[in-house]
Amino acid sequence: MNFTRADFPGDFLFGASTSSYQIEGSALGGAGRSQWDDFAATPGNVIRAENGARACEHILRMDEDLDLLKQGNFDVYRFSTSWARVMPEGRGAVNAEGLDFYDRLVDGLLERGIKPALTLYHWELPSALLDLGGWRNRDIADWFADYTNIMMKRLGDRVWSVAPVNEPWCVTWLSHFLGIHAPGLRDIRATARAMHHVLLAHGRSIQAMRALGVKNLGAVCNFEYAQPADDSEEARKAAELYDGYYNRWFLGGIFKKEYPANVLEGLGPHMPKGWENDFDVIGTPVDWCGLNYYTRKLIAPDPDSAWPSHKEVEGPLPKTQMGWEIYPEGLEFFLKRTHAEYTKGLPLYVTENGLANDDHLINGEVQDDGRIDFLDQHLAATRRAAEAGVPVKGYFLWSLMDNYEWAVGYEKRFGIVHTDFETLKRTPKASFKALAQAIAR
Ligand code: NOJ
Repeated sequence: MNFTRADFPGDFLFGASTSSYQIEGSALGGAGRSQWDDFAATPGNVIRAENGARACEHILRMDEDLDLLKQGNFDVYRFSTSWARVMPEGRGAVNAEGLDFYDRLVDGLLERGIKPALTLYHWELPSALLDLGGWRNRDIADWFADYTNIMMKRLGDRVWSVAPVNEPWCVTWLSHFLGIHAPGLRDIRATARAMHHVLLAHGRSIQAMRALGVKNLGAVCNFEYAQPADDSEEARKAAELYDGYYNRWFLGGIFKKEYPANVLEGLGPHMPKGWENDFDVIGTPVDWCGLNYYTRKLIAPDPDSAWPSHKEVEGPLPKTQMGWEIYPEGLEFFLKRTHAEYTKGLPLYVTENGLANDDHLINGEVQDDGRIDFLDQHLAATRRAAEAGVPVKGYFLWSLMDNYEWAVGYEKRFGIVHTDFETLKRTPKASFKALAQAIAR
């Protein structure tokens, strides 16, 4: 790698990220069914109808995985707890085995000197709650606050940080408008409701944690740089709207207590009654903001299609295996803009960044030079933002190990550790070793 720890501010943290459904094994340990088990069961939704039933069997191999984090010299580990594992029906009864597992996970991290950074919702909504309307139902804010309380009464004294929801854009737009993630809806009214309720649930969760005295609470959003496909005024407006519902809606709600006007033009008629009165809950102060960043999109107007009447155009830059353009400048841009326009001095973290690379295990080695280069470029962008005065305090790569990449199943490998999905053997890749060396204390 082209850097060492000494190139970053002294208190800068290096971390790795995972999520429960993607690594644990949802069929193990008494977890309830979630919307991802359901979504994957319908042919056409996920490649080869793959699901997270087994995944990386992290729940059985936790100690080995925590040892990898230690071996990688990471300061902090960002993981999520599964609502469906802890509360199989989403409400009411608690699965003690699930809660015990997270207890051991947190203790295992602390024993190894690694800070636990917990996310409460990384997408596996209990099926029983989807049956009640899921994110379309305003009651989800109560259900989520109850789940938050259960988790925090058990873990709140030992976690380093907590974020209620991972990537609200994916929870809402990707899942209710584009239909690409569970529950697979293509419904603007459902989307508008989800876009609001996810923030209401976030706010209620923060309030519940404040009441319990839990420290270091944040929000984690994902960002894509919206580049107009050409110089026309129409393309500029199209990109601005994409930027609005992707990048500005959630930050706007949380940090400015308002939604972007250009997005409300389309979503307004579908918003739940009284949404304007919820901003005091939504905007409950947080202590930090996390940015997940992967790519940019070229946006062109598409006047013949329904609102938002635009489309994505293929860009010219080198792409990752997901087909995503590599554009580290976007990360620097969002760190600067988030600080200048929204968070104004709060600590920022890059809570996810990484790529699916064309990795091959040959004679027990994965020489993933493309990943090393990608991480180098994005860490340089992070450093440029820090040098320009943005209080960016850490960087978490996605992901510790190859895992279940949602609608594309096990085909796309984001890990710095290779997972053999037959034997579940873990093999650190070249990027793991390079990074461990660069961030050694
Ligand atoms: C963001 C999500 O949080 C994570 O679950 C996913 O695997 C990565 N992006 C890569 O697509």
